[in-house]
Amino acid sequence: MRTPEEIKTRVEELLSRMTLEEKIGQMVQSAGTDTTAIGGDVKTSPLEGLIAEGKIGSIIYMPDSAAMARHLQRIAVEKSRLGIPLIFCQDVIHGFQTIFPIPLAWSCSFDPDLVQRATEVSAKEATRAGIMLAFAPMLDIARDPRWGRISEGAGEDPYLDSRMARAEVLGYQGGEGGQGLGDGEHMAACLKHFVGYGAAEAGRDYNTVEISPSTLHNVYLPAFQAGVDAGAASVMPSFNLVDGVSSAASPYVLQELLRKELGFEGVIVSDYAAVFEVIAHGLAADEREAAERCANAGLDIEMATDLFNRELPKLVMEGKVPESLIDDAVRRILTLKFRLGIMDDPYLYMHEGEEEKTYLAPEHLAVARRLAQESAVLLKNDGALPLRKGAKIALVGPCADSRDQLGPWQFSKRAERTVTLKEGLEEKGFAVLCEPATTIHEELVGGINRAVKLAQDCDVVVLAVGEDMTMSGEASCRQEICVPAIQMELARAVAAVGKPVVAVVTCGRPLLLDWFDKNANAVLCAWFAGTEAGHALSDLLSGEANPSGKLSVTFPRSMGQIPLYYNHMNTGRPWNGVSDEKFVSRYLDGPNTPLYPFGHGLSYSAFRLTEAALSSGEMARDGALTVSAKVKNVSDVPGTAVLQMYLRDVAARIARPVKELKGFARVDLAPGEEKTVELPITPDLLRFHDGREWVLEPGRFVVMLGFSSADDQLEKLEFSLA
Ligand code: BGC
Repeated sequence: MRTPEEIKTRVEELLSRMTLEEKIGQMVQSAGTDTTAIGGDVKTSPLEGLIAEGKIGSIIYMPDSAAMARHLQRIAVEKSRLGIPLIFCQDVIHGFQTIFPIPLAWSCSFDPDLVQRATEVSAKEATRAGIMLAFAPMLDIARDPRWGRISEGAGEDPYLDSRMARAEVLGYQGGEGGQGLGDGEHMAACLKHFVGYGAAEAGRDYNTVEISPSTLHNVYLPAFQAGVDAGAASVMPSFNLVDGVSSAASPYVLQELLRKELGFEGVIVSDYAAVFEVIAHGLAADEREAAERCANAGLDIEMATDLFNRELPKLVMEGKVPESLIDDAVRRILTLKFRLGIMDDPYLYMHEGEEEKTYLAPEHLAVARRLAQESAVLLKNDGALPLRKGAKIALVGPCADSRDQLGPWQFSKRAERTVTLKEGLEEKGFAVLCEPATTIHEELVGGINRAVKLAQDCDVVVLAVGEDMTMSGEASCRQEICVPAIQMELARAVAAVGKPVVAVVTCGRPLLLDWFDKNANAVLCAWFAGTEAGHALSDLLSGEANPSGKLSVTFPRSMGQIPLYYNHMNTGRPWNGVSDEKFVSRYLDGPNTPLYPFGHGLSYSAFRLTEAALSSGEMARDGALTVSAKVKNVSDVPGTAVLQMYLRDVAARIARPVKELKGFARVDLAPGEEKTVELPITPDLLRFHDGREWVLEPGRFVVMLGFSSADDQLEKLEFSLA
């Protein structure tokens, strides 16, 4: 492995031999064969020609296989004047061939170590095909479930998001500071989308964003800081406007926030066609101005469009873009190429012959199954779950025997290996009578009647309903986040039979589940659980595994409550939820509280929390405290409790949220077992940004400990910061 000094010397030496055009070529990322998606000259310069001319530095989407990657790499190495190899990139978001639950789901595991393992597996599989940079993790805080991309991130909480960010970066890159880069089995991570993309107005993708400086810092930046601190090699600016300028063209976002405040030194790569879209935003009159603005803002790589190649040479000649700025961008890109090891061995990631034996390897599937078990959230259970051994099950609904369990943002070519719920339940020895009854949106002829008949003949109904994979993800926003109407019709019809109903909901976002909460005996949120969906879900339904997932995002009762999140401000007129007062912060026609709060999730065990205590009632500015509590499994079922610690800053110069997650622990407990859990409180958990600077203010803090963010379950303690 080369030392940073060695890399620096080599980069300078190479840079000194590059023409301006060759430098700019490194700043261009082609989108597969579609090199010139917008405005390019694909006929005269197909991909291979551009590579040979040194006009492309990296590629997204292209290599399906190690052989294809090798073919293109050979052109770069053997035909281009300087032989600089390409970086192959891909959206490896929740798995490459083995697909894990969507990130919104896996964040419900509150298990960063297992998520790290999943991204390590993703890297192992993707690098077999020549891919060396993942456009992940996606760190956008999302408080609006209409927004389809809520599925791709860790939900609504900055602390949980930060823990996941760190875990994912460590997994992809093989440890702290990118230690594993260059070993051929790990890959560069890319934090995205910087910043505020999840705050799209009205939950509509690509829409405008308005965020105050304090909210930007306290809510949207922490996970990016965590990712930068873990050593992420690259960052992708977001499509949206931040204070009127799209991130790819914003010196404030790229220089002030990302480089100066967060201290990021790696490569900044635009989102797909984001340079070109500066024109539609109304920030540039033409392509030349768009290229000028983005280059001067400090964007290193343009993805998918070809404006840098066409416009930057002239802009540099005219003195509108300083060549020193181009040099700096190219230094960063070449440094990454050295760190990835491809300057020394361009074919390091091409493992022809190893692909098949790596993909869906038993140990990869084991991680997928475990993570899917931990990600599913048991929202309600009146005792219908676990299913009685030998029960005769009427398994009805469009998700019952469907392989559409992988969710958005995955490109697995092995979707046929996805285990369905039906297959999973049958493997457990249940008698399963299955009737899909509907597709996601339409009834199969006579389907609902057939489902009702099955329900009459069986002991229990498992109702498998929800969304398909096209209903969440990018550009898949919904105005009504409900279970589609025909499936509701099915649900009502089978529930009317009077047998116990267990709803299993496949989804990429929180859905409105009020009807299910009232009418089903149990509700399990499965999310898109991945390749091992059917195994993991039937493990949970049968009781072979015990649910431990906790919601990383609030489930509202109605559309009118959105945006609804647990870490909100108190307002000057908070409502206590019961009184009939008028001039308080409430609705006339419904409660303020969610259907299921952040942190909620049931288990087949019962846990008791006792002896919550703080190591001291005072904390020095440079000190630390320990919160401890005993957690006991008071049931006869082994299980995992997820202890959650929330803090509230009672009075501060700017209002602080009613509570904020600042620590958690998964506690495995045998029946009757009790463990003492300790969680640290350090000054970095208490500081906040007041819109101008980070501050650590003296004063009183309340500590709340419990198994969900919901008020009535929390044990309260207090301390003062001196
Ligand atoms: C998405 C990014 C993604 C890129 C490349 C864009 O549309 O916003 O998240 O990395 O496409 O696929």
